[in-house]
Amino acid sequence: MKGLILSGGKGTRLYPLTYTRAKQLIPVANKPVLFRVVEAIHDAGINEIGIVIGDTGPEIKETVGDGSRWGVGITYIPQEAPLGLAHAVKISRDFLGDERFVMFLGDNVIEGGISSLIKQFASSEWNSQIVLTEVPDPEHFGVAELNGDGQIKQLIEKPKQPPSNLALVGIYMFDHHIFEAVDAIKPSWRGELEITDAIQWLVTNQRKVFPYVHNGWWIDTGKPTDMLEANACVLEELTPYIAGEIDAVSVVDGRVTVETGAQIINSVIRGPAIVGENTRVENTYIGPFTSIYHDVVIKNSEIERCIVLEHSCIADVPLRIQDSLIGRHVTVKHSTRKPKTLKMNLGDHSRMWIP
Ligand code: TTP
Repeated sequence: MKGLILSGGKGTRLYPLTYTRAKQLIPVANKPVLFRVVEAIHDAGINEIGIVIGDTGPEIKETVGDGSRWGVGITYIPQEAPLGLAHAVKISRDFLGDERFVMFLGDNVIEGGISSLIKQFASSEWNSQIVLTEVPDPEHFGVAELNGDGQIKQLIEKPKQPPSNLALVGIYMFDHHIFEAVDAIKPSWRGELEITDAIQWLVTNQRKVFPYVHNGWWIDTGKPTDMLEANACVLEELTPYIAGEIDAVSVVDGRVTVETGAQIINSVIRGPAIVGENTRVENTYIGPFTSIYHDVVIKNSEIERCIVLEHSCIADVPLRIQDSLIGRHVTVKHSTRKPKTLKMNLGDHSRMWIP
Protein backbone atom coordinates (compact mmCIF):
# COMPACT_ATOMS: atom_id res chain seq x y z
CA MET A 1 0.00 0.00 0.00
CA LYS A 2 0.99 3.64 -0.46
CA GLY A 3 0.24 6.73 1.63
CA LEU A 4 -1.10 10.06 0.39
CA ILE A 5 -0.97 13.08 2.72
CA LEU A 6 -2.87 16.25 1.84
CA SER A 7 -0.82 19.23 2.85
CA GLY A 8 -1.97 21.98 0.49
CA GLY A 9 -4.87 24.27 1.38
CA LYS A 10 -4.83 27.80 2.72
CA GLY A 11 -5.47 27.39 6.47
CA THR A 12 -7.53 30.60 6.60
CA ARG A 13 -9.13 29.63 9.90
CA LEU A 14 -5.72 29.71 11.56
CA TYR A 15 -4.79 33.23 10.42
CA PRO A 16 -2.54 35.02 11.32
CA LEU A 17 -0.31 32.01 12.17
CA THR A 18 -0.82 30.56 8.69
CA TYR A 19 0.13 33.76 6.86
CA THR A 20 3.72 32.86 7.55
CA ARG A 21 3.65 29.11 8.09
CA ALA A 22 1.99 26.01 6.65
CA LYS A 23 -0.71 24.93 9.08
CA GLN A 24 0.46 21.32 8.95
CA LEU A 25 3.84 22.45 10.36
CA ILE A 26 2.42 24.01 13.51
CA PRO A 27 3.62 21.80 16.36
CA VAL A 28 1.34 19.91 18.70
CA ALA A 29 3.24 18.79 21.84
CA ASN A 30 6.34 20.23 20.15
CA LYS A 31 6.12 18.14 16.98
CA PRO A 32 4.58 19.37 13.70
CA VAL A 33 1.21 17.74 13.01
CA LEU A 34 2.51 16.64 9.59
CA PHE A 35 5.38 14.70 11.24
CA ARG A 36 2.82 12.90 13.39
CA VAL A 37 0.89 11.95 10.23
CA VAL A 38 4.04 10.64 8.47
CA GLU A 39 4.86 8.60 11.59
CA ALA A 40 1.34 7.16 11.83
CA ILE A 41 1.54 5.98 8.19
CA HIS A 42 5.07 4.62 8.64
CA ASP A 43 4.05 2.80 11.85
CA ALA A 44 1.32 1.10 9.79
CA GLY A 45 4.06 -0.41 7.60
CA ILE A 46 3.80 1.95 4.60
CA ASN A 47 7.08 3.27 3.22
CA GLU A 48 6.06 5.13 0.07
CA ILE A 49 4.31 8.41 0.77
CA GLY A 50 3.08 11.17 -1.55
CA ILE A 51 2.52 14.64 -0.09
CA VAL A 52 0.19 17.01 -1.95
CA ILE A 53 1.47 20.58 -1.55
CA GLY A 54 0.19 24.04 -2.48
CA ASP A 55 1.52 27.57 -1.93
CA THR A 56 3.37 26.50 1.22
CA GLY A 57 5.13 23.67 -0.67
CA PRO A 58 8.69 25.06 -0.40
CA GLU A 59 8.49 25.29 3.41
CA ILE A 60 6.99 21.81 3.67
CA LYS A 61 9.67 20.31 1.41
CA GLU A 62 12.44 21.99 3.36
CA THR A 63 11.09 20.86 6.75
CA VAL A 64 10.04 17.31 5.86
CA GLY A 65 12.85 16.56 3.38
CA ASP A 66 13.13 13.26 1.52
CA GLY A 67 11.70 11.16 4.37
CA SER A 68 15.00 9.44 5.19
CA ARG A 69 14.75 10.43 8.86
CA TRP A 70 11.74 8.07 9.11
CA GLY A 71 13.04 5.56 6.58
CA VAL A 72 10.28 6.38 4.06
CA GLY A 73 10.42 7.68 0.49
CA ILE A 74 8.54 10.94 -0.08
CA THR A 75 7.25 12.24 -3.41
CA TYR A 76 5.88 15.79 -3.54
CA ILE A 77 2.81 16.37 -5.69
CA PRO A 78 2.09 20.06 -6.43
CA GLN A 79 -1.57 21.12 -6.57
CA GLU A 80 -2.16 24.36 -8.50
CA ALA A 81 -4.89 25.51 -6.07
CA PRO A 82 -6.93 23.95 -3.23
CA LEU A 83 -9.56 22.55 -5.59
CA GLY A 84 -10.78 19.87 -3.20
CA LEU A 85 -9.75 16.60 -1.58
CA ALA A 86 -10.97 14.58 -4.58
CA HIS A 87 -8.95 16.88 -6.88
CA ALA A 88 -5.87 16.03 -4.78
CA VAL A 89 -6.54 12.32 -5.44
CA LYS A 90 -6.96 13.00 -9.16
CA ILE A 91 -3.58 14.72 -9.53
CA SER A 92 -1.87 11.92 -7.56
CA ARG A 93 -2.81 9.22 -10.06
CA ASP A 94 0.72 8.81 -11.48
CA PHE A 95 2.22 8.44 -8.01
CA LEU A 96 -0.45 6.01 -6.78
CA GLY A 97 -0.69 3.81 -9.89
CA ASP A 98 -3.01 0.85 -9.25
CA GLU A 99 -1.96 0.29 -5.63
CA ARG A 100 -4.31 0.48 -2.68
CA PHE A 101 -3.63 3.57 -0.61
CA VAL A 102 -4.49 5.43 2.56
CA MET A 103 -5.22 9.14 2.28
CA PHE A 104 -4.63 11.16 5.45
CA LEU A 105 -5.33 14.87 5.86
CA GLY A 106 -2.07 16.53 6.92
CA ASP A 107 -3.75 18.55 9.68
CA ASN A 108 -5.55 15.68 11.43
CA VAL A 109 -4.53 13.91 14.63
CA ILE A 110 -6.06 10.59 15.73
CA GLU A 111 -5.73 8.55 18.91
CA GLY A 112 -3.94 5.24 18.64
CA GLY A 113 -2.64 5.48 15.05
CA ILE A 114 -3.97 3.63 12.02
CA SER A 115 -2.05 0.32 11.97
CA SER A 116 -5.07 -1.88 12.67
CA LEU A 117 -7.17 -0.08 10.06
CA ILE A 118 -4.50 -0.46 7.39
CA LYS A 119 -4.05 -4.15 8.19
CA GLN A 120 -7.81 -4.70 7.87
CA PHE A 121 -8.06 -2.87 4.54
CA ALA A 122 -4.86 -4.23 2.97
CA SER A 123 -6.12 -7.82 3.20
CA SER A 124 -9.79 -7.09 2.37
CA GLU A 125 -11.78 -7.07 -0.87
CA TRP A 126 -13.26 -3.68 -0.13
CA ASN A 127 -12.81 -0.91 -2.67
CA SER A 128 -12.74 1.66 0.11
CA GLN A 129 -12.78 1.93 3.86
CA ILE A 130 -13.86 5.14 5.54
CA VAL A 131 -13.46 6.12 9.17
CA LEU A 132 -16.43 7.59 11.04
CA THR A 133 -16.73 9.04 14.49
CA GLU A 134 -19.59 10.45 16.56
CA VAL A 135 -19.54 14.26 16.82
CA PRO A 136 -21.86 16.69 18.62
CA ASP A 137 -22.14 19.03 15.60
CA PRO A 138 -22.43 16.86 12.46
CA GLU A 139 -23.71 19.80 10.35
CA HIS A 140 -20.07 20.96 10.10
CA PHE A 141 -18.74 17.69 8.63
CA GLY A 142 -19.22 15.16 5.88
CA VAL A 143 -21.84 12.86 7.44
CA ALA A 144 -22.68 9.17 6.82
CA GLU A 145 -26.10 7.60 7.08
CA LEU A 146 -25.90 3.83 7.67
CA ASN A 147 -28.47 1.14 6.80
CA GLY A 148 -29.91 -1.19 9.44
CA ASP A 149 -27.16 -3.70 8.54
CA GLY A 150 -24.39 -1.14 9.22
CA GLN A 151 -23.62 -0.50 5.53
CA ILE A 152 -23.46 3.00 4.05
CA LYS A 153 -26.76 4.32 2.74
CA GLN A 154 -25.54 7.79 1.81
CA LEU A 155 -22.89 10.44 2.49
CA ILE A 156 -23.66 14.16 2.63
CA GLU A 157 -21.24 17.09 2.95
CA LYS A 158 -22.19 19.52 5.77
CA PRO A 159 -25.94 18.67 5.82
CA LYS A 160 -28.34 21.28 7.23
CA GLN A 161 -30.36 18.40 8.74
CA PRO A 162 -27.84 15.64 9.50
CA PRO A 163 -29.26 12.10 9.17
CA SER A 164 -26.80 10.88 11.87
CA ASN A 165 -24.02 12.15 14.12
CA LEU A 166 -21.37 10.05 12.33
CA ALA A 167 -18.79 12.35 10.75
CA LEU A 168 -16.15 11.35 8.23
CA VAL A 169 -12.71 11.44 9.85
CA GLY A 170 -9.87 12.70 7.58
CA ILE A 171 -8.51 9.20 6.90
CA TYR A 172 -9.69 7.25 3.87
CA MET A 173 -8.58 4.03 2.19
CA PHE A 174 -9.13 3.36 -1.50
CA ASP A 175 -8.27 1.06 -4.37
CA HIS A 176 -7.94 2.28 -7.98
CA HIS A 177 -11.75 2.53 -8.45
CA ILE A 178 -11.58 5.92 -6.75
CA PHE A 179 -10.07 7.35 -9.97
CA GLU A 180 -13.28 6.53 -11.89
CA ALA A 181 -15.20 8.31 -9.14
CA VAL A 182 -13.09 11.49 -9.08
CA ASP A 183 -13.33 11.67 -12.89
CA ALA A 184 -17.11 11.28 -12.79
CA ILE A 185 -18.06 13.88 -10.16
CA LYS A 186 -18.55 17.62 -10.71
CA PRO A 187 -17.34 20.47 -8.46
CA SER A 188 -19.66 21.35 -5.57
CA TRP A 189 -21.26 24.77 -4.90
CA ARG A 190 -17.98 25.86 -3.30
CA GLY A 191 -16.07 24.98 -6.47
CA GLU A 192 -14.28 21.96 -4.97
CA LEU A 193 -14.19 18.32 -6.03
CA GLU A 194 -15.51 16.80 -2.79
CA ILE A 195 -14.21 13.46 -1.54
CA THR A 196 -17.66 12.86 0.00
CA ASP A 197 -19.18 13.01 -3.52
CA ALA A 198 -16.52 10.63 -4.86
CA ILE A 199 -17.22 8.09 -2.09
CA GLN A 200 -20.97 8.49 -2.65
CA TRP A 201 -20.28 7.69 -6.33
CA LEU A 202 -18.58 4.44 -5.25
CA VAL A 203 -21.60 3.53 -3.08
CA THR A 204 -24.10 4.37 -5.86
CA ASN A 205 -22.09 2.29 -8.33
CA GLN A 206 -22.12 -0.79 -6.09
CA ARG A 207 -18.47 -0.65 -5.06
CA LYS A 208 -17.72 -2.06 -1.60
CA VAL A 209 -17.26 0.82 0.86
CA PHE A 210 -16.74 -0.33 4.44
CA PRO A 211 -17.47 2.04 7.34
CA TYR A 212 -15.28 1.77 10.45
CA VAL A 213 -16.46 3.61 13.56
CA HIS A 214 -13.54 5.03 15.56
CA ASN A 215 -14.17 5.37 19.30
CA GLY A 216 -11.12 7.31 20.49
CA TRP A 217 -10.46 10.99 19.97
CA TRP A 218 -9.84 12.52 16.56
CA ILE A 219 -9.09 16.18 15.92
CA ASP A 220 -9.06 18.19 12.73
CA THR A 221 -6.78 21.08 13.72
CA GLY A 222 -8.59 23.64 11.57
CA LYS A 223 -9.17 26.32 14.22
CA PRO A 224 -7.07 27.66 17.14
CA THR A 225 -9.33 25.91 19.69
CA ASP A 226 -8.79 22.61 17.83
CA MET A 227 -5.00 23.10 17.99
CA LEU A 228 -5.21 23.56 21.78
CA GLU A 229 -7.48 20.53 22.11
CA ALA A 230 -5.14 18.37 19.98
CA ASN A 231 -2.20 19.62 22.03
CA ALA A 232 -3.95 18.59 25.26
CA CYS A 233 -4.84 15.12 23.91
CA VAL A 234 -1.32 14.42 22.58
CA LEU A 235 0.35 15.70 25.78
CA GLU A 236 -1.79 13.21 27.75
CA GLU A 237 -0.28 10.38 25.65
CA LEU A 238 3.33 11.58 25.76
CA THR A 239 5.97 9.59 27.65
CA PRO A 240 7.77 12.32 29.63
CA TYR A 241 11.53 12.72 29.94
CA ILE A 242 13.93 15.30 31.33
CA ALA A 243 16.94 16.21 29.16
CA GLY A 244 17.32 19.85 30.21
CA GLU A 245 18.28 21.40 33.54
CA ILE A 246 15.97 21.95 36.50
CA ASP A 247 17.33 23.86 39.46
CA ALA A 248 16.89 22.66 43.05
CA VAL A 249 14.10 25.09 43.97
CA SER A 250 11.86 24.39 40.97
CA VAL A 251 8.94 21.96 41.25
CA VAL A 252 8.34 19.93 38.09
CA ASP A 253 5.85 17.08 38.26
CA GLY A 254 6.12 13.65 36.69
CA ARG A 255 4.20 14.36 33.50
CA VAL A 256 6.52 17.08 32.21
CA THR A 257 9.03 16.79 29.36
CA VAL A 258 12.00 19.16 29.45
CA GLU A 259 13.94 18.95 26.19
CA THR A 260 17.71 19.29 25.66
CA GLY A 261 19.25 22.61 26.63
CA ALA A 262 16.09 23.90 28.35
CA GLN A 263 16.55 25.60 31.74
CA ILE A 264 13.96 25.68 34.48
CA ILE A 265 14.81 28.22 37.17
CA ASN A 266 12.80 28.90 40.32
CA SER A 267 9.59 27.79 38.60
CA VAL A 268 6.63 25.42 38.98
CA ILE A 269 5.51 23.20 36.09
CA ARG A 270 2.40 21.03 36.33
CA GLY A 271 1.98 18.44 33.58
CA PRO A 272 1.12 17.28 31.13
CA ALA A 273 3.38 19.88 29.60
CA ILE A 274 6.48 20.16 27.43
CA VAL A 275 9.31 22.70 27.37
CA GLY A 276 11.34 22.81 24.14
CA GLU A 277 15.05 22.87 23.38
CA ASN A 278 17.05 25.83 24.70
CA THR A 279 13.98 27.45 26.23
CA ARG A 280 14.45 29.35 29.49
CA VAL A 281 11.69 29.34 32.09
CA GLU A 282 12.40 31.59 35.05
CA ASN A 283 10.32 32.52 38.08
CA THR A 284 7.27 31.24 36.23
CA TYR A 285 4.28 28.92 36.60
CA ILE A 286 3.48 26.63 33.67
CA GLY A 287 0.16 24.85 34.04
CA PRO A 288 -1.25 21.66 32.47
CA PHE A 289 -1.69 21.21 28.70
CA THR A 290 1.00 23.71 27.76
CA SER A 291 3.60 23.28 25.01
CA ILE A 292 6.44 25.76 24.90
CA TYR A 293 8.53 25.29 21.76
CA HIS A 294 12.26 25.84 21.20
CA ASP A 295 14.29 28.99 22.05
CA VAL A 296 11.54 30.70 24.04
CA VAL A 297 12.03 32.86 27.13
CA ILE A 298 9.32 33.02 29.81
CA LYS A 299 9.98 34.89 33.01
CA ASN A 300 7.97 36.26 35.92
CA SER A 301 4.72 35.04 34.33
CA GLU A 302 2.01 32.37 34.54
CA ILE A 303 0.80 30.37 31.56
CA GLU A 304 -1.61 27.45 31.19
CA ARG A 305 -3.16 25.42 28.32
CA CYS A 306 -1.24 27.29 25.63
CA ILE A 307 0.99 26.67 22.65
CA VAL A 308 3.96 29.04 22.34
CA LEU A 309 6.12 28.82 19.21
CA GLU A 310 9.83 29.37 18.79
CA HIS A 311 11.82 32.51 19.62
CA SER A 312 8.97 34.17 21.54
CA CYS A 313 9.36 36.05 24.79
CA ILE A 314 6.83 36.38 27.60
CA ALA A 315 7.98 38.53 30.50
CA ASP A 316 6.51 40.08 33.65
CA VAL A 317 2.90 39.61 32.52
CA PRO A 318 0.66 40.41 35.51
CA LEU A 319 -2.27 38.14 34.45
CA ARG A 320 -2.19 34.39 33.83
CA ILE A 321 -2.10 33.66 30.07
CA GLN A 322 -4.52 30.87 29.25
CA ASP A 323 -6.06 29.09 26.20
CA SER A 324 -3.77 31.00 23.85
CA LEU A 325 -1.89 30.26 20.67
CA ILE A 326 1.25 32.40 20.44
CA GLY A 327 3.26 32.41 17.19
CA ARG A 328 6.96 32.79 16.42
CA HIS A 329 9.07 35.80 17.46
CA VAL A 330 6.19 37.20 19.52
CA THR A 331 6.78 39.46 22.53
CA VAL A 332 4.26 39.75 25.35
CA LYS A 333 5.59 42.05 28.06
CA HIS A 334 4.52 44.18 30.97
CA SER A 335 5.39 47.86 30.65
CA THR A 336 5.72 50.32 33.53
CA ARG A 337 5.76 53.41 31.27
CA LYS A 338 3.13 56.10 31.71
CA PRO A 339 0.42 56.50 30.55
CA LYS A 340 -0.94 53.09 31.53
CA THR A 341 -2.38 51.93 28.21
CA LEU A 342 -2.75 48.79 26.14
CA LYS A 343 -0.13 48.87 23.43
CA MET A 344 -0.10 46.30 20.63
CA ASN A 345 1.28 45.45 17.20
CA LEU A 346 -1.14 42.81 15.95
CA GLY A 347 -1.00 41.22 12.49
CA ASP A 348 -4.03 40.90 10.20
CA HIS A 349 -6.74 38.61 11.63
CA SER A 350 -5.15 38.66 15.10
CA ARG A 351 -7.49 38.38 18.05
CA MET A 352 -6.98 39.59 21.59
CA TRP A 353 -9.27 39.24 24.60
CA ILE A 354 -9.01 41.81 27.40
CA PRO A 355 -10.51 41.03 30.80
P1 TTP B 1 -9.22 22.09 4.90
O1 TTP B 1 -9.07 22.25 6.37
O2 TTP B 1 -10.53 21.65 4.40
O3 TTP B 1 -8.81 23.41 4.12
P2 TTP B 1 -7.69 24.47 4.42
O4 TTP B 1 -6.43 23.85 4.88
O5 TTP B 1 -7.56 25.31 3.18
O6 TTP B 1 -8.20 25.36 5.68
P3 TTP B 1 -9.24 26.59 5.81
O7 TTP B 1 -10.60 26.00 5.61
O8 TTP B 1 -9.01 27.07 7.23
O9 TTP B 1 -8.86 27.65 4.81
O10 TTP B 1 -8.15 21.02 4.36
C1 TTP B 1 -7.89 19.80 5.01
C2 TTP B 1 -6.50 19.32 4.67
O11 TTP B 1 -6.39 19.00 3.27
C3 TTP B 1 -5.41 20.35 4.92
O12 TTP B 1 -4.24 19.66 5.36
C4 TTP B 1 -5.17 20.98 3.57
C5 TTP B 1 -5.44 19.83 2.61
N1 TTP B 1 -6.02 20.21 1.31
C6 TTP B 1 -5.27 19.97 0.15
O13 TTP B 1 -4.14 19.50 0.20
N2 TTP B 1 -5.86 20.28 -1.05
C7 TTP B 1 -7.11 20.81 -1.15
O14 TTP B 1 -7.58 21.05 -2.28
C8 TTP B 1 -7.85 21.06 0.07
C9 TTP B 1 -9.23 21.62 0.00
C10 TTP B 1 -7.26 20.73 1.25
